[in-house]
Amino acid sequence: MSELFKAPKGTYDVVPPFSATWLAVRKALSTPPINSGYGYIETPIFEDTALFVRGVGESTDVVSKEMYTFEDKGGRSLTLKPEGTAGVLRAMLENRMDRGALPAKVWYTGPHFRYEQPQSGRYRQHTQVGVEAIGSSDPALDAEVIWMAIYAQREILGLKQVRLLVNSLGCHNCRPEYRKILVAFLDTCDLDEATRARVLINPLRVLDDKRKEVQDQLTEAPLMPDFLCADCAEHHVKVLGFLDALGVVYEQAPRLVRGLDYYVRTTFECVHDGLGAQSAIGGGGRYDGLIETLGGPPMAGVGFGLGVDRTCLAVQAEGIELSNDSQIDAFLIPIGEASQLLVIALAGKLRGSGIVSDIAFDGRSIKAAMKSADRSGARYAILIGDEELASSTVILKDLVIGTQETVAVDSVIETLIARLN
Ligand code: HAM
Repeated sequence: MSELFKAPKGTYDVVPPFSATWLAVRKALSTPPINSGYGYIETPIFEDTALFVRGVGESTDVVSKEMYTFEDKGGRSLTLKPEGTAGVLRAMLENRMDRGALPAKVWYTGPHFRYEQPQSGRYRQHTQVGVEAIGSSDPALDAEVIWMAIYAQREILGLKQVRLLVNSLGCHNCRPEYRKILVAFLDTCDLDEATRARVLINPLRVLDDKRKEVQDQLTEAPLMPDFLCADCAEHHVKVLGFLDALGVVYEQAPRLVRGLDYYVRTTFECVHDGLGAQSAIGGGGRYDGLIETLGGPPMAGVGFGLGVDRTCLAVQAEGIELSNDSQIDAFLIPIGEASQLLVIALAGKLRGSGIVSDIAFDGRSIKAAMKSADRSGARYAILIGDEELASSTVILKDLVIGTQETVAVDSVIETLIARLN
């Protein structure tokens, strides 16, 4: 026998029964956007490499170290999307959504790819549910986006250990000035070579350094919220005021810096305390200016990306059981070959009526078939043999209570619908 193949390093398979949790999480994260007027958008899994270099920023780890880039047979440089925003904005511009009613609001879900060192909660393929809303600078839109993220996690999924961190990173007017002040401060610190190099590329990211020896030197570091221009300060206060009005509990996190370069003003992250190092289960913020960088008009935008994989880990860490939509209602068992036709036809009708049904295949003995029915978790077994065939009836067995009765074939659907509801 030849050796079995394994999933590529840093990837995993979503298989039953875990896949039921995975689907329930993805549905929960998508529900607030759907209920808030966001239309669904789906873009290609790969894009021009230059889109990410320009959109996400050359200095980010995502672009400089983590992209899956390849040349296709036509000599084009393509990259599997490492994040959703750049591709979705490209599609919105290409489809002229920037010229229609504004803000234009979309949501999406799908796999993203980053060549990272795999560990628990960090994969080379991960799935996000994201939103992007373009064409409005209204702080109420920032609040809507933040509310959608945290509502799904806290209220729909019932997560208790999620903290919402909110910050403002200023704008293209006030951040350069702050950056100078921060660099001057960091120059007085005792930092290693690699961190010094980071100071030159993106000094704000040094604030996010997790090492104690670095953090100890940063207690007095100047922080962006103290250097916001009047417009950014007003925007920030309004966002926080709207979050208060929405009843959203948050923490102000003046050191929060995100890993992508496009953010201005509002940034936020949802952090789960039961996940160890990879604790960010979602994040996002405003990216006014990015659309122009991608060749579009000067236009504001705000969005988020929520990690389905990490949210599943958070759900499991808190021992939350999510309801399983695909629970089998009825398990149909043909007794003898003659009844297989009727079983198959009846299963089609049951399924068409929304009664989740499965069938015993391969002409199994009643004993073996009943074992499969039990294992499937079905509430009812439906048995059809020669006698039932002759009288146009079925035997309906309640697998929980253990009772059984004879029911006319024509009334099986209404009987089950009445019992299951
Ligand atoms: P991000 O913070 O890079 O933001 O990713 C969003 C979420 O995806 C993270 O919070 C995390 O839960 C999940 N995630 C990221 N990388 C991995 C990984 N290697 N393994 C498992 N999960 C991962 C963005 O991607 C932005 N595009 C979000 C956004 C949209 N901002 C504005 N609009």
